[in-house]
Amino acid sequence: MDNILLYQQLAHWYHLLIPPQAAQNEGLAYNKLLCDAVAGRPRPWSLLELGCGGGLVAMFLKQSFVVTLTDISPTMLDVSRQLNPDIEHLPGDMRTLRLGRVFDVVYAQDALCYLSSAEEVRQTVATVAAHTHRQSVVLLCPDAMAESFAEYRTCTGAVGPDARRGRLDEWNHRLPGYRSGPDYVCDFVYELTQADGTVSTFQERHHLKAYSRELWIGLLREAGFHTELIEFDRRCYPRQGLIARRH
Ligand SMILES: C[S@@+](CC[C@H](N)C(=O)[O-])C[C@H]1O[C@@H](n2cnc3c(N)ncnc32)[C@H](O)[C@@H]1O
Repeated sequence: MDNILLYQQLAHWYHLLIPPQAAQNEGLAYNKLLCDAVAGRPRPWSLLELGCGGGLVAMFLKQSFVVTLTDISPTMLDVSRQLNPDIEHLPGDMRTLRLGRVFDVVYAQDALCYLSSAEEVRQTVATVAAHTHRQSVVLLCPDAMAESFAEYRTCTGAVGPDARRGRLDEWNHRLPGYRSGPDYVCDFVYELTQADGTVSTFQERHHLKAYSRELWIGLLREAGFHTELIEFDRRCYPRQGLIARRH
């Protein structure tokens, strides 16, 4: 992953650009799905997130799970700690992470679209497998998968207690010439308003991948999992996810 403004230099604006409410629909939907999936297992239920970012979805998952959050960016772990001081945070690259522990749930969402090759997807599936036991449940919700790729545009923002204001415009799309294959981009515009009213704007393009369901499901099968496609309601983004259990 290249040096990304949103996760590095502008990370201290993150929760003003993408406030926790922006993840509420997904957070509540994932929490319910996962509670139903592990019902019957002894509590407390443990959950590992790969690529937790600002810890927005984790805010909802921690209502039911003892959550461990990991991310490749120490800056983003600090951002998440502000929302989730009660949760364990550990540095880790999802391609290589080995905590030597297993969890009732292993979960990852939009961080998966930063994996830059099918080999990195395979490595990540190996990480998932290394942190599961026989009854674990895996939930993977990449922002996009090839078969269902659709352009997506959204705008979020918030006003902070210190009167700073953030606004983020996000446009996920495929560039001309990249209509097939996994490549797409997310064009972001960040608008930052200081407490004294000074405004600055930044633009950056994130280069992302929408791998096929077939690839995910095939690699999960090789790692010993059978996988089901889940459809979430239209208030959720992404609309689809993969839920996997050991054979
Ligand atoms: C959009 S943010 C995730 C937001 C998160 N879904 C939330 O609820 O706040 C994407 C995150 O993926 C992380 N990331 C990208 N590649 C990674 C990797 N190989 N291993 C771990 N984290 C990674 C980035 O550092 C970034 O924090």
